[in-house]
Amino acid sequence: MVQCEKFEYDVLVIGAGGAGLRAAIEASSANVKVGLVCKSLLGKAHTVMAEGGMAAAMANVDQRDDWKVHFADTMRGGQYNNNYRMAQLHAQEAPLRVRELEEWGAVFDRTKDSGLISQRNFGGHKFPRLAHVGDRTGLELIRTLQDHGIHQGIEIHQEHTVADLIKEGDRVVGAVGYDRERGRFKLFQAKAVILATGGTGRAFKISSNSWEYTGDGHALAYHAGADLIDMECIQFHPTGMVWPLSVRGILVTEGVRGEGGVLRNNEGKRFMFDDIPDLYTHQTADNEEEGWRYTQNDRDARRPPELLTRDHVSRCIMREVREGRGTPHGGVFLDISWIAEKLPNAEEHIKRKLPSMYHQFKQLANVDITKEPMEVGPTTHYTMGGIRVDAESQMSTVPGLFAAGECAAGLHGANRLGGNSLSDLIVFGKRAGEYAANFSQEHGPSTINQTQVDEVIQRALAPVEREGGELPYAIQAELQEKMQDLVGIVRREEEMQQALDIISELK
Ligand code: FUM
Repeated sequence: MVQCEKFEYDVLVIGAGGAGLRAAIEASSANVKVGLVCKSLLGKAHTVMAEGGMAAAMANVDQRDDWKVHFADTMRGGQYNNNYRMAQLHAQEAPLRVRELEEWGAVFDRTKDSGLISQRNFGGHKFPRLAHVGDRTGLELIRTLQDHGIHQGIEIHQEHTVADLIKEGDRVVGAVGYDRERGRFKLFQAKAVILATGGTGRAFKISSNSWEYTGDGHALAYHAGADLIDMECIQFHPTGMVWPLSVRGILVTEGVRGEGGVLRNNEGKRFMFDDIPDLYTHQTADNEEEGWRYTQNDRDARRPPELLTRDHVSRCIMREVREGRGTPHGGVFLDISWIAEKLPNAEEHIKRKLPSMYHQFKQLANVDITKEPMEVGPTTHYTMGGIRVDAESQMSTVPGLFAAGECAAGLHGANRLGGNSLSDLIVFGKRAGEYAANFSQEHGPSTINQTQVDEVIQRALAPVEREGGELPYAIQAELQEKMQDLVGIVRREEEMQQALDIISELK
């Protein structure tokens, strides 16, 4: 009989990125007992890879902004496939959540004149809307939530993997996981469970996602009988590193384009001017000067085409590369150094606003971005699809099971706007924590079926008890290769069918 230590909580949160931490903080402030399971070490969350900022219509830089414009931008960016109520709640509540972070100690960049939280331009946002901390905004968000949450009596289990959820009838009543460091199984009994496990981007070969992003929450919810929606909607961020190969896929923040970076092909042409979708012609600049004025927050200028939505920019980059106008390593050029023609202190400005990008390229690619262009190409970045949730409460279609952040679906529709992810985490993380705590107070204790627990443990142990068999990393590598080749940015029916056959075989 394998030993399994038992823990009892009112609310169990699985995942400790921005959404999980915010949910745990909210639930614990309702005076319920909260357990938090991290796949990695606390604070080492993939949230840090959202670099350029969090979108919130605070109107600090352009007073014309308000939640309705943010709502409209989010819906348009998502091709109107969004859950409109989630888009509304997000746009209305994001400013409150950002100010709350500031009260909890987040050190945002400030506006020059009034010392308010500074907001930068980003793709698909009509006004400068991204509250930011240089290009390390996700890191500051995690640091702030961790500092705040650590004093609230939340019990934390680090470096754990959750193997399955436990149900009593229709309701989720806990989870079984294992401590990877010590090799021990644990049963977490809970009146409500919140999944905040992030995305699935590690199913692709070229990815900005960290190793944890293997769709654990999606799988846990699916096996517990929850609805998943929009699973075909994967975001390819237009700018990941392409060279050297060892760092291929690492994110190059959209903040580079927000600060004036332009995309050029190997003929030196700003190819994004060639293809501006009808939906955006009225608000996209048709010459370089006007685009630059927008970058300088000129209230009447239209935005540069490099700041069209990510799906569109990625497709345009793919076209340039496929038609032979790419860089030597299969990307396009992203140039921020050109702003020296416009700004006397350009070098200092770039290093202050984009410190991580400066160091990333200097150390990994030996490129000085204040003087030379970067080579960039699309990288798998975000899973819009996921667990269907109720907009107000974040409860899934399974009672007692909630989801927040990237593993939940609806807010972003078919394509997420940059910066809407960090604000999603704090808006819907808070809601999930609040409603899960209510649920735990309204529903009595559950009973755990020991047979279910034993079965989960047996399933978890089976691969290590097997003699021979396939190496799991080889299977993952093949999955990544095939997903990249057959289910990438451009999809064809026969290739997707081929991918399905291969995935069944791998399974
Ligand atoms: O480009 C970025 O900094 C990424 C931000 C995001 O995905 O929201």
